[in-house]
Amino acid sequence: MAIDKKMESAFNDQINKEYYSEYLYMAMKAKFSEMNLEGFVNWFDIQMQEEKAHAEGMYNYVLERGGSIELFAIDKPEIKGTTPVEIFRQVLEHEEYVTSRINALADVADEVKDRAALIFLNWYIKEQVEEEASVGGVLAKLELIGDDKQGILALDKELATRVFNPPVIG
Ligand code: FEO
Repeated sequence: MAIDKKMESAFNDQINKEYYSEYLYMAMKAKFSEMNLEGFVNWFDIQMQEEKAHAEGMYNYVLERGGSIELFAIDKPEIKGTTPVEIFRQVLEHEEYVTSRINALADVADEVKDRAALIFLNWYIKEQVEEEASVGGVLAKLELIGDDKQGILALDKELATRVFNPPVIG
């Protein structure tokens, strides 16, 4: 059964939001590069790759369902803070926003009775729990560290160990 137009449109909107997330994290990655915090740079680099994979997962799904892809312009990312803790507060806020968007997508799937899309979206719903937990974990450490430069350097070392595992979506 071909994908409902409302569902298709909701997926196309979210594909744009996922690419915006990649773009936002690319901008943040540059800020950490300017601070010479290469572990944080690595963390954002992986975050970017994940966002691209999230967008591509939906892109492939819409096509698989016989739908059409419509790509929109990506908004200019605005970074609100300058310090690591301020930037991570924004990351958490952004991921919470993405969670609400994914939930809204699941609401559309419910509304148009698209069970296949709902099952597909389950992966994203679970992924958002992980995203918020992972970001929240870094933020909690940053709040604890405060202005302690040694603490920031230790966390930078820890974030340098993060590796990208290409997600298997769906
Ligand atoms: Fe695509 Fe960070 O959620």
